[in-house]
Amino acid sequence: MHRRQFIQWSALGIPAISWKGFNKQQVAGNKPLVISTWDAGIAANSAAWKVLRSGGRALDAVEKGVMVTEASQNCCVGLGANPDRDGYVTLDACIMDEHANCGSVAFLERIKHPISVARRVMEKTPHVMLVGSGAQQFAIAEGFPLESGKLSEEAEKTYRNWLKKSEYKPVINIERSGIPMASTVPNRLPNGEWNHDTIGMIALDAQGNLSGSCTTSGMGFKMRGRLGDSPIIGAGLFVDNEIGAATATGQGEDIIRICGSHLVVENMRNGMNPENACKAAVERIVSVKGAAKCKEIQIGFIAINKQGQYGGYCLQKGFNFAVCYADDQNFLVDGKFILS
Ligand code: GLY
Repeated sequence: MHRRQFIQWSALGIPAISWKGFNKQQVAGNKPLVISTWDAGIAANSAAWKVLRSGGRALDAVEKGVMVTEASQNCCVGLGANPDRDGYVTLDACIMDEHANCGSVAFLERIKHPISVARRVMEKTPHVMLVGSGAQQFAIAEGFPLESGKLSEEAEKTYRNWLKKSEYKPVINIERSGIPMASTVPNRLPNGEWNHDTIGMIALDAQGNLSGSCTTSGMGFKMRGRLGDSPIIGAGLFVDNEIGAATATGQGEDIIRICGSHLVVENMRNGMNPENACKAAVERIVSVKGAAKCKEIQIGFIAINKQGQYGGYCLQKGFNFAVCYADDQNFLVDGKFILS
């Protein structure tokens, strides 16, 4: 039910709560529906929506959607992102469909669309994950062009700056600091760091099937070989077509420790709505790590269920996610947070 329907119901005298107290997220029937992490999700949702509105499959929507972000050069996703501490951009991605088929690539270099390689792993190999040079070799064999490996202009500048101190303190999600954004590149802070890290996208198609995708460059200036949650099925992404789908963003190590996205889906299986399922997973992280240490990081989960409800929750203020369920309904929602 959307706002228009709500007003129609009210006009008919059907009892309804006031519009002010009305939570769109808890309303079932948003179908098709696509949601994704952070503000880059608006453009990604638009691409996914084109697939969904014409009756396409959620799997195609979530691949097409995050490809926009991977290609943007203006994000911490894709080849324009910050490199690891040795100066190489390494990319991680995974994808999962309504049949529990899944594919993943990690530590992949010089390939523009890791999400599409992850899909090929899912569809063309008997495996779930390929990593490093093996993933790259597979991508090339599948016809993906090998890109130059040169850092983007912004990333080069940032890396040179980082090298001055070479301090090993990889940061993720620092938007809470309130530092104004650099003017030249959206989402990049004046010190060159991104304010967030990943795009995770989940969708419900007109046939009622769920799929999800997740893609990232991980932490800027990370140790070479470091992987976060994003390419790990169950951590960065999980889809159960009977129940719902969830994806994560933020400090990957802590998401892995609780199998975050799988936990969110299991919470929904146990009766929670998507928002409460995400909240319970964030609370689990706080109970495992301790509230004091959680102040240094950000983590956000988003989820949808089979009924077309959606929601998200994060550790601290600053996380948002993009929601789209109609041609004129593609908007950002501020994530509720548990630390003040
Ligand atoms: N969530 C992305 C990462 O930790 O790499």
